[in-house]
Amino acid sequence: MPYQVRGVVATAKGKPVTVETILVPDPGPGEAVVNVQACGVCHTDLHYRDGGINDDFPFLLGHEAAGVVEAIGDGVSGLEIGDFVVLNWRAVCGSCRSCNKGKPWLCFNTFNAVQKMTLLDGTEISPALGIGAFAEKTLVAAGQCTKVDALAPASAAGLLGCGVMAGFGAATYTGGIGKGDSIAVFGCGGVGNAAIAAAKLAGATTIIGVDLDDQKLRWAEEFGATHTINALGAEVVEQIKSLTGGNGADVCIEAVGHPAVLEQAFYARDFAGTVVQVGVPTPDMMMPSIPMIEFFGRGGALKPSWYGDCLPSRDFPMLVDLFLQGRFPLDKFVSETISIDDVERAFEKMHRGEILRSVVVI
Ligand SMILES: NC(=O)c1ccc[n+]([C@@H]2O[C@H](COP(=O)([O-])OP(=O)(O)OC[C@H]3O[C@@H](n4cnc5c(N)ncnc54)[C@H](O)[C@@H]3O)[C@@H](O)[C@H]2O)c1
Ligand SMILES: [Zn+2]
Ligand SMILES: [Zn+2]
Repeated sequence: MPYQVRGVVATAKGKPVTVETILVPDPGPGEAVVNVQACGVCHTDLHYRDGGINDDFPFLLGHEAAGVVEAIGDGVSGLEIGDFVVLNWRAVCGSCRSCNKGKPWLCFNTFNAVQKMTLLDGTEISPALGIGAFAEKTLVAAGQCTKVDALAPASAAGLLGCGVMAGFGAATYTGGIGKGDSIAVFGCGGVGNAAIAAAKLAGATTIIGVDLDDQKLRWAEEFGATHTINALGAEVVEQIKSLTGGNGADVCIEAVGHPAVLEQAFYARDFAGTVVQVGVPTPDMMMPSIPMIEFFGRGGALKPSWYGDCLPSRDFPMLVDLFLQGRFPLDKFVSETISIDDVERAFEKMHRGEILRSVVVI
C-alpha cells in the first residue's frame, strides 16, 4: 500500500508552491522510504520553482534532509529500519569510469529511486535532486541514505545534504584551502558561510567574506571571516588585493551563481590561485569576457564544484562528529524552523536576505 503524505510541490514555472497529497510507493529493490524529520530550504529549490533547472514540473521540492528509515526494499544492505540518516544526491555507483579511476566523489552515474512518487491523480512528480524531502516521507535509492550519529539534531544534520556540504567541500576539496592560506568567499549565504567555516577549520589566516547584505556579513564574521566587504558600490577586487598584501587571495569561491561575480573572483585571485565556482548559474548565463592572456598569464585553476566534491559516506559522519565535538558550528546555519506550510514564505525571506537557512521540521 502506498503511503499518503503531505509534500511541497512546484506545479509551474514561477508559481508559488503549494502543499499537496503525495503517494509514496513501498520501497522496491534497492530503495528506501524515509520518515523525514527536517529539511532545509536551499536556493536550488527556488531555482527549481523558477524553472532554472529544467522543465520537468511538477517538482516535489526539498533536498537537505535528515530522518529515520521507515522501510527498505529487497537487496538493501548496510541500512536498517530505524537508522538515522542524512539524504544525499550522490549515491555512488562504484562502477562508472570515474569510480573505476578511484574518484567516487565525481561519480558520473549516481542513482535515485526507480519508482515514481505521484500526486493523487497519478501524475508523476520529479523529486528535487532525486530527493523531494519537503514531505512527511520520501522514496529514495538506499545509497542516498548516509548513516550519521543520531545524537545530532535533524534540523542541523540535514543541512549537510546540500548547501553546507557544498560550501565546506568547495573550500576544502575543490579549493584545497590549507593552513596560512588566504580565501575570499563571494556570497555569504548558507553555501558561502560553510566555505568560510571550512577555511577557519583548515587554518586559513585571511578569510574575506563578500556580500551585498550587511546581516550576511555579520554572520560571516561569526563563522570565521577575518574581514568583510559589502560589494555594493565597492571596488571589491582592489579591496581584496589590499587585504592580501597587494596580491589577491589564494582561493576565491564564487557562491552566488553570476557571471559578474565570477569575473570579480577571477581578478581577485593571486597568481597560481584557484577560483571555485560553486554557485549555480542559470542556463542563459555566459562566462565573463576575459582576455585569454589573463587566463594563461595568471596560471592556477578555474574549477566548478559539484556538491563540493564530497563523498557523503566519508564526509557526512565526519562533519556530524566535528559538530558534536564543538568544532564545526552546523547548528548556526539554522536561522529558523518552520512548518511544511511555510516554504513559500521562506523563499521570500531568502530573497530579502533575512535568513541563512529556514528548516522545515516535520
Ligand atoms: N554546486 C553545488 O553543488 C551547490 C549546492 C548547493 C547550492 N548551490 C548554489 O550555491 C549558491 C548559493 O546558495 P545559498 O543557498 O547560499 O544561497 P543564498 O541565497 O542563501 O546566498 C546567496 C548570497 O549571495 C549574495 N549575493 C547576491 N549577489 C551578490 C553579489 N553580486 N556579490 C556578492 N554577494 C551576492 C546574497 O546576498 C546572498 O547572501 C546558489 O546558486 C545555489 O544554487 C550549489
Ligand atoms: Zn560511479
Ligand atoms: Zn541545495
